[in-house]
Amino acid sequence: MQNLILLAYLGAAVLFILGMKRLQSPATARRGNRLAAIGMLIAVAATLLLQRILSPVEMIGGFVVGAAVGMLLARRVAMTSMPELVAVFNGFGGLASALVAGGEIARYLSGGAGEGAVARTVQSMAALAPLDVPAAITVVLCILIGTITFSGSFVAFGKLGGHLSGNPVSFPGMRVLTVLVTLGALGAGGYLIYGAGGSFAAMDMQAIMWGALVLGFLSLVLGILLVIPIGGADMPVVVALLNAYSGLAAAATGFMLDNTALIVSGALVGASGLILTSIMCEAMNRSLLNVLLGGFGGDSDGSGPTVEGARPDLTVQETSVEDVAIELTYAEQVIVVPGYGMAVAQAQHQVRELSDMLQAQGVTVKYAIHPVAGRMPGHMNVLLAEADVPYDQLYEMDDINNEFGMTDVSLVIGANDVVNPAARTDKTSPIYGMPILDVDRSRTVVVLKRSLRPGYSGIDNMLFYHDNTRMLFGDAKESLAKLVAAVKDL
Ligand code: TAP
Repeated sequence: MQNLILLAYLGAAVLFILGMKRLQSPATARRGNRLAAIGMLIAVAATLLLQRILSPVEMIGGFVVGAAVGMLLARRVAMTSMPELVAVFNGFGGLASALVAGGEIARYLSGGAGEGAVARTVQSMAALAPLDVPAAITVVLCILIGTITFSGSFVAFGKLGGHLSGNPVSFPGMRVLTVLVTLGALGAGGYLIYGAGGSFAAMDMQAIMWGALVLGFLSLVLGILLVIPIGGADMPVVVALLNAYSGLAAAATGFMLDNTALIVSGALVGASGLILTSIMCEAMNRSLLNVLLGGFGGDSDGSGPTVEGARPDLTVQETSVEDVAIELTYAEQVIVVPGYGMAVAQAQHQVRELSDMLQAQGVTVKYAIHPVAGRMPGHMNVLLAEADVPYDQLYEMDDINNEFGMTDVSLVIGANDVVNPAARTDKTSPIYGMPILDVDRSRTVVVLKRSLRPGYSGIDNMLFYHDNTRMLFGDAKESLAKLVAAVKDL
């Protein structure tokens, strides 16, 4: 039986890895997701059935209820709210790890038999068995990381969904309180590990329980204290980091329960979450420390703190739908640059319609995707895929930046920071050094947005005042619908 379980876990691990490999391209991502989900089903079914934890009927019942809730949630959630859903998933993942550790401690303390790391830890804490410090460390990590992930994720969920203020929250003495709570949590964890090392020979059962409860409570508070000072617009980075934490907590749970599938899947989630966090920080040219301590960005509605027409000393060239329609149809190559505003306006279908019409007239249309355009990784890819834009027309920043110099029109749709030339030219700019899409190098840049307000970073964009830039003011969806009609009439 043990060999069968291990074989199932091996199969599941292979499916996880193949699934992740396929997530690398939008063309194979759906299949990848399915493969990984099948891997998880195999791992869960093998654990529950082969270890006789649940009967087949109970398992199918749980599967039906869980799948129904998951499908309902996934179908109802709007694409722009996806980071919130991921935050909730991470939070529950962390809570599950902490509860498993707590449950195992409670089971052991109430006299139940246990074999895993918790049993070994508690036995050694109570000097009933030889020292088992490594086992105690996994139990402590499970509670610490799992509970921080839980409370931190729910604060992130609140900020992203507007249930809590998106502004960075701080109060006098907050940093000191955070340090004290951290020290308290580490102290409680250390107390349990020290006990497991045999120093508290015959450690009292009550002391073990209180140690675990204090550790859980302080970690819960720590999760809140770590996330509330971060600005709402930075929440996607925080969610990716918490995703990594939930993976680490799951891996620690795997060590605690001696479960290989949990160790493998937790390690994969932990590593991919950390890689994603680092990609996001790099694409914003900010360090993780700056994100965690920076208080950058307020409420994540895409509008910045500066007023409309931020540079009255400079003039912008406003254009009309008819003029843009003519320029587009006479172009040889058009590059569409989508940004957060396209997501807000839900303009992806109109973008597709316009590009289909242009291509029918012999214009080459490409889409340039910046890694942090929008508010979550892959935001633009998902929206464009929803409108059935062919994947081979989507180009990553590094693959298309050289083409702007040979492009007649760059159509910037609700993008702002990711095309701000200050990142390349102005050493005093907070976004200096952030890699951007070089739209300013194309012959004409047409920017579709509602005003001259800045984007997420709150920084003015000199691109709007360039000689080769034309502003088409208005909601992106409405402007594009008018453009489609105008191109049809030509
Ligand atoms: P932003 O710089 O945030 O600019 C979005 C623009 O969309 C705004 O200037 C806004 O201008 C416009 N807009 C909003 N609603 C619109 C509508 N209905 N119609 C037309 N335009 C509309 O967006 P971006 O260029 O995509 O850059 C993303 C930013 O988010 C970067 O600074 C990035 O670092 C940050 N960020 C991204 C992520 C990820 S993973 N993607 C994570 C954290 C932070 P108006 O108000 O004038 O219309």
